[in-house]
Amino acid sequence: MNVTTIDYFIIKGISDIPALQCLAFILVLLIYLITLTGNMTIFILVCLDHHLHVPMYFFLANLSILDMSSSIITLHNVLVNFISGDNTISVFACLTQMYIFASLTCNELFLLTVMSYDRYVAICNPLYYHVIMNHRNCTFLAIFCWLLGFIQVFPVLVSFSFFNCYRTREINHFFCDPVLLENLLCNYSYFVWLFIHLGGVFDATFPPFFTFLPYIFIIVTIQRMRSNTSRRKTFYTCFSHLTVVIFLYVTLICQYLRPTSVTNMDTNKLFSLFNTAAVPMLNPLIYSLKNKEMKTALKRKINDLSKLFGEL
Ligand SMILES: *[C@@H]1O[C@H](CO)[C@@H](O)[C@H](O)[C@H]1NC(C)=O
Repeated sequence: MNVTTIDYFIIKGISDIPALQCLAFILVLLIYLITLTGNMTIFILVCLDHHLHVPMYFFLANLSILDMSSSIITLHNVLVNFISGDNTISVFACLTQMYIFASLTCNELFLLTVMSYDRYVAICNPLYYHVIMNHRNCTFLAIFCWLLGFIQVFPVLVSFSFFNCYRTREINHFFCDPVLLENLLCNYSYFVWLFIHLGGVFDATFPPFFTFLPYIFIIVTIQRMRSNTSRRKTFYTCFSHLTVVIFLYVTLICQYLRPTSVTNMDTNKLFSLFNTAAVPMLNPLIYSLKNKEMKTALKRKINDLSKLFGEL
């Protein structure tokens, strides 16, 4: 099979070894459930608790929805394929999965950039915070983040569907990863490469630059603070955000920016698992464990609930 127009792919999954498959299934199911529960909790908490009705937590709720969606789009298929034993996927479904996953990943990069900017304004420019981050601007920024990813990955989707010519049906992965699909494309020209990678070049430069730059100013501002308590308090509000940012970038770099010569499919899958499963699962945990306001809000709601059940 050299050059083929195909209508379905075969997804090889996480592992070929049956015993490992079972273990992987249990692990993925567990991660999936934790991810959905954790992110849903943050989303509901931010919606219900009016103490959390500030831009930082609205953006965090956006991030939870993003994480949940990206987990559903990748891990759901893994679970269904394992249960049904059918590991074929139509080209249409595969490209849809690829498109949504890549867009959501871009959205996440943009959203984290906006969240950094939000922290920057709050700490370095507190007097104007309510003017700059007013409701209209925040809504605009959030919508912008969501749209930009979907628009930006569109050329990739178009070129993949337009060629519809792949060297093999077999996808040695557990989902339709954009970079993997790209490597399967036949009659691949420099022009296509440029078309596909233009967005990627943008993503690899602007979001990281504008995500980390605010932190330089934030750290300088924290250094200048006189009182120890306010210094510590400010540090902790940024700490969880910075952790999430660093974690995401490290997994993305490990997955996509390694030289192709050292691309071993098993390590690649492992990094993919980090990126698709661990990041969405850990984000809410990092935020809720390290953030005092989140913890108090959670306690308040649990108290309300137990009171409610007490009355019933
Ligand atoms: C996303 O953020 C915007 C801006 O703060 C907010 O208005 C909106 O409710 C958030 N959406 C979700 C789903 O949390």
